[in-house]
Amino acid sequence: MKILIASSECDPFAKVGGLGDVIPSLAVALKKLGHDVRIILPKYGAIDSIPWCSVAGGPMIVNMGYGVEFALLLQAEHKNIPVYFVEFNKYFARGGIYGEFGESYSDNWKRFAFFCRAVIDACPFLGWAPDVIHSHDWPTGLISPLLSLWNRPAILKNTKSIFTIHNMAHHGYAPRELLRFVGLYDHYWHPLAMEACGAVNVIKGALQFAHRIVAVSKTYAEEIKTPAYGCGLDGVLRYRARDLAGICNGIDGEIWNPATDKFLPWKFSAKSIGGKEICKRELQSAIGLAPAERMPVFGVVSRFFEQKGLDVLCNALPDVLGKMAVQFAVLGSGDANLEWKFRELASRFEGKMAVKIGFDNALAHLIVAGSDFFVMPSRYEPCGLSQLYAMAYGTLPIVRATGGLCDTVENYDEVTGSGTGFVFNDLTHGALYDTIGWACATYYDRRRHVRIMQRRAMGKDFSWNKSAKDYEREYELAMQLPLQ
Ligand code: ADP
Ligand code: GLC
Repeated sequence: MKILIASSECDPFAKVGGLGDVIPSLAVALKKLGHDVRIILPKYGAIDSIPWCSVAGGPMIVNMGYGVEFALLLQAEHKNIPVYFVEFNKYFARGGIYGEFGESYSDNWKRFAFFCRAVIDACPFLGWAPDVIHSHDWPTGLISPLLSLWNRPAILKNTKSIFTIHNMAHHGYAPRELLRFVGLYDHYWHPLAMEACGAVNVIKGALQFAHRIVAVSKTYAEEIKTPAYGCGLDGVLRYRARDLAGICNGIDGEIWNPATDKFLPWKFSAKSIGGKEICKRELQSAIGLAPAERMPVFGVVSRFFEQKGLDVLCNALPDVLGKMAVQFAVLGSGDANLEWKFRELASRFEGKMAVKIGFDNALAHLIVAGSDFFVMPSRYEPCGLSQLYAMAYGTLPIVRATGGLCDTVENYDEVTGSGTGFVFNDLTHGALYDTIGWACATYYDRRRHVRIMQRRAMGKDFSWNKSAKDYEREYELAMQLPLQ
């Protein structure tokens, strides 16, 4: 199959969260299955330094609703996958991906509408007819409606669209003028198409027009059909339920593998786990925790957003740090209030709690490797990659039972010693405090169980092998659909 993956993120070029990790590793896994896979993303300002971009042709015409624009299509290769970049400085030559200094760019709807239209026009420009275009989250959500246009480029007349939901909370609201801006007709302004609450809702358009829809875990695919998790679009998802599947993300074992990880002072594996202690010492010194061999370290690496439930962790931490012999290593950024609270806790509990505000890939690897436990008290979590990385490094996740966390972490049973982590249900300060306490007691009193769980977690197969086959099946299902 010929598969074009359109995304706003793709590591190592542009990454804000898990989407950036998923795109290249999914592409590589699909390529291993024998498909012709290509990736397309905007050429952001920060990608400027890549020396090996070559122009794929002269200027490319982008057929906007108001007239034509000219963009450059650049080409590079990453792990043998062709990666195309749409260069259009007015929208993309900026410091950030979605925004800067804690603020989203106010013209994001125009930026990503332009990108979606450019993805459509890149196909005739390249003379390449993908069987499917696979788009991800609202920034590429307009591709499905654009592919439903009767006057789409002829080369795309057989092309089907797949839309993966990584996060239902971001809808991409835009004023009605978006439709004319991008070349969609007025009849898309309808509650059964893309209108919602007097605005254009881009993700709704993707959900209405994609041939197949995938959510990034089975539980999340069920959750978003309910009002509690559907962010107002649960009705649309119930309507499309027959075309909606849940496929859990995998991890890239070349990047996230404790036996080969270039960011670790000492490599380790399930068979020879001793190096994990060295990583722990290095972490304590790197982030500013007191050197303490026999104290459990709890790690957090996260975007600081409401989704992640870290406000509840902040409320629980004074009690946790005041009463338990534990250490916390926190890395992340986002919500200014949370950043301030974590800093305040770090100065109040010096030596026991340390925080680094910012995005730091090397430190993220060290926290995942050097911690004993990894805390993710998410309000909702479509899939979550961090708990998968943690398990691969023998770091036991402490998670709330939601979305992909539910599907990937097995709760500890202290009678049998089974499990790969600690799971709780209620997102309350008390429940989180108790679960951290439970993990802490297990660390001190049942070391053998901790070791067995670590090895079990490290032995789990979180590779893309199965999930890539599930995606392949989705593409096949889409391709069997009749032409519109
Ligand atoms: P989400 O995509 O919702 O943020 P995931 O668990 O799917 O959650 O993916 C998070 C990814 O982002 C992981 O690769 C994690 O290591 C990375 N990450 C998050 N915050 C930071 C940070 N401050 N520094 C480095 N990496 C981070
Ligand atoms: C989103 C979700 C996260 C998921 C990631 C990759 O950012 O919040 O749960 O793992 O996408 O699919």
